[in-house]
Order: sequence, then C-alpha cells, then structure tokens
Amino acid sequence: MLETIISNKRPMEFIPRNTEPAVRLHLLVVDPDSAVRSACAEIASSLGYAVESTGDLGQARIQLRGRRADILLVDLPNSANHGLELISEVKLLYPNTIVIAMTASGTVNAAVEAMRCGASDYLTKPFAMDELSTVLDRAAENQTTDKTARQVRERLRLSQGLGSMIGRSDEMEKLYRILSKVALSAHPVLILGESGTGKELVARTIHAFGPNAQKPFLPVDCGSLVPTLIESELFGHVKGAYTGANRSKDGLLVAAEGGTVFLDEIGELTLDLQAKLLRALQEREVRPVGATHRVPIKARILAATNRDLASMVEKGTFRKDLFYRLNVVNLRLPSLRDRREDIPLLAAHFLDRISKERGAKFTLSDEALRTMMRYDWPGNVRELENSVERACALTSGPVLHLGDLPTQLQRQGLEAHRASNTAAAGNDAENHEATGVRTLADLEREAIVSAIRTLKGDKLQAARLLGIGKTTLYRKLKEYGIADPLSED
Ligand SMILES: Nc1ncnc2c1ncn2[C@@H]1O[C@H](COP(=O)(O)OP(=O)(O)OP(=O)(O)O)[C@@H](O)[C@H]1O
Ligand SMILES: [Mg+2]
Repeated sequence: MLETIISNKRPMEFIPRNTEPAVRLHLLVVDPDSAVRSACAEIASSLGYAVESTGDLGQARIQLRGRRADILLVDLPNSANHGLELISEVKLLYPNTIVIAMTASGTVNAAVEAMRCGASDYLTKPFAMDELSTVLDRAAENQTTDKTARQVRERLRLSQGLGSMIGRSDEMEKLYRILSKVALSAHPVLILGESGTGKELVARTIHAFGPNAQKPFLPVDCGSLVPTLIESELFGHVKGAYTGANRSKDGLLVAAEGGTVFLDEIGELTLDLQAKLLRALQEREVRPVGATHRVPIKARILAATNRDLASMVEKGTFRKDLFYRLNVVNLRLPSLRDRREDIPLLAAHFLDRISKERGAKFTLSDEALRTMMRYDWPGNVRELENSVERACALTSGPVLHLGDLPTQLQRQGLEAHRASNTAAAGNDAENHEATGVRTLADLEREAIVSAIRTLKGDKLQAARLLGIGKTTLYRKLKEYGIADPLSED
C-alpha cells in the first residue's frame, strides 16, 4: 500500500519518529485514491498527527466544519478546479489552517495555482515518504510558531501590554509583534534604546516567552565590571587562574545551560574581550581563564546598549564582525516622548504597584497627569517610575499633585501654565517656590553638579566623592537631564 508514494528513484525505508510533537496537530487528508490516502494517513499517524481522511471534497467540507484541521493535505487532480475551490474556501473560513497541495507530475501550473489560492506548500506525485514527512514537519513548525504568536497576540489584546511590559501605542504594538516572533527563535538580538526605555525588561520578556523560559536568565553588566572580571564571569576560570581563584568556576555562558545570557552595556566591552566573545559565539565553546581546554556552551545571547554601535564600528572601537553577529535581529525601543499616549497607562501601572505595596490607594491629579504628558522624559520609563515613587513618598494625601512631582516636571508644568495664563493660585508647585522648601531630588541634582564642577569634570572621582557607583552617577545625570554639568546653571 505504501509503495504508491515511494518514488522509484528514491526508495527508502520509513522510520517512524519515536518522539511525538508536543501538541498533537490535526491533519485532514483529502485524496480520491484510497491507496495514497491511507498511505499518507499511516505515515502521518506514525509521525504523531491526529489524522482523518476522506476521498470526497463534499465530505471534506463536512469534516472541516466538525473539527478544524491544523493542516490540510489535498489532492489536486488534473482538472484541479474543485480542489482549488476547496483551498480558497478553507483559507477564507479557517485562515489558520495550513494547506499542502498534492499535484500530479508535469502539472506545475496546478501547484502555482494552489499556492495562489493560499496553499503553503505542495508535493508532486509520486513522492517519497521522507518528502511527505519533511513537508509535514515544515507545516507543523509553522503551525506551532503561528499558534504561539496568535496566543501572545490574544493575551496582548486583553491586557495593557506584553508580559510585564506596559504600553499600547503603535510603537509598542510593533515591538510586541517582533518580540513575540523573536522570542521563539534562538538568534542573538541586539536591543537598542535610550537609557530607561526598558532594554533589560525587553530582554527578560524575550526570555520569558521563549522555549527555554525555565532555564536561567543571566545578566552581565559589561559597563560596571572591570575587564578581567567580565572575562571570568562570562567564560569561567580554573582554580589558581589568579589570586583569589580558590576553585574552578563555570562562566555564565556555560552556566546558562540553554537559557539566556544578557550582555548589558555591550558597547563598554574592551576590544580584547570583544574578540574573545566573538570567538565564543562562532565556535560555541569557551576557554575558561587559566585553562588549556575548551568547554562547549549552549546559551542564547541578548545584548543591549544605549550607545551608537554602528558609529563605534566606524571609529574602530567596536568590532564590525561582532556587531554583525549580535545584530542578527535588532529591536529599537521607542523613547517615552515618542509614545506619550502610554504615559497614563504606565503611571497607572506604577501607582497600582505602589498602592498595593503600601496598602493605600494613590491617584494622580488631572494637572499632574497633564504635566507628565507634556514632559520630555529624558530618563524615559525609569524617570517616570522614579517620579511616581517619589511623589507617593512625598504626598500628604491620596492624590498626587503637581507639587509632589520632581522640580524639572514642575518647571515645565508652570511654564505651560504661565504661557496659557491659567496658573491656578495656590497650586502645590508654587507653594514649593513660595515657602522656599526644596525637594530631595533638587538637592541631589545640585550635589551632583557641584561635585563634578569641583573636580573639573572628573566624573569617576565625583562618583567616589558622592559615595555612589559610576553607573549610578551616569544614570542620575541622564535622569536629571544634565547633559553638561560644567555649563549647568
Ligand atoms: N514598557 C514598560 N512597562 C513597564 N515598565 C517598564 C517599561 N519599560 C521600562 N520599564 C521599567 O522602567 C525601569 C527601567 O527599565 P530597564 O532597566 O529595562 O531600562 P534600560 O533601557 O535597561 O535602562 P538603562 O539603559 O539605563 O540600563 C525598570 O524598572 C522597568 O521595569
Ligand atoms: Mg539596563
């Protein structure tokens, strides 16, 4: 019976797969030739599909109504019209069903027509068993990927964002669409965006929606560790590799065991480490510090930076080959001022979280929210989150007023008020000014500017004096919108 679909040229023994697909897909075989029909059904069943079959197009329609097929394998006889009609109809009624057409050899037109009507693939009779299983595998893979993407989209439709990501603006919707696909692949992803736009959150979301979400997610901050430490963090070391290395330790690329390693601030990697990382990615193995042997790695790499890597490549400070390897897919995160419509959603989300934590309900006054909508947010979502947290800590009641917001926001709010000549007497921001009370953020901003000025621009030294890390200092400079501390007023 099986001989009918074994081509004479390529006879081969069919070995049933012993691992079944995770989800049993439903396949409907439509072919008037009962031998072909049952051979296809037999092979597909042994591949793990739930199979139904029929020789009749009318019967096929009834069966499809009763139970939707994930994959439809349909014969197109020489007078292919009826089969084509069925394909068009199925794609219209059940757009998620993947259609594979079977055509007789020499009828290329029929295959072309079938594809035009919505078939995704075709098999030319006679075909070998492995051809059938390859085509079915391909369809199953597409079906599973599409199904997951559909589920993610559906979850999205019902929520305010994707996973822990909040935002329904067009920019974010576009990002979610790419993200839900990217999550299912194993390619490296380069995540770009200004500070505080959510690069780390995106990396965590990609990991969480991927097939290896149960495996570890391991972040490495390439900006705050010294190069020797990064090398040992990433690649591991053997006992005695350096002073203090009392025992061997696996690097994160090994420890991820199929999970994700997130290389944050990748633009800060030294050229020497860039070369070592490139080699590790190319060869899928690493040499721990001090070792002579190499260890295989199995980790997905996600990298992020707020620097312009392409121009670093031009200047020769970032390796071109590594850039291309990491940049297989890139996700550019929109800045908050380019998606202002998400500000109320984000603010509500943070207020909600804080309200739960404190057991007290906080809301924003209309005026405070209006001001937030107008503000430019140089520190993006992080600045918004900090502003809301700070306002909740400062406020004396459940409603957050303009005066509870950081000075730079109040300033913009006041300017807008003055401009429109509607400044309401006695608003909180003016109260702040009238009473001469300064906010903590204001004092912190001043301390930072003054420290950098005293040290004539030496930020490293300034951070030390202020008792904070270099990264924190840079973050605060961004949050407060201080581009050049030496020329601040
Ligand atoms: N779309 C979003 N929805 C909810 N929270 C967000 C979103 N984007 C960012 N955040 C929050 O904002 C803060 C900053 O995000 P994250 O650390 O991912 O930014 P980043 O781009 O890595 O910043 P940096 O460049 O400074 O490292 C985090 O607390 C994060 O949870
Ligand atoms: Mg980050």
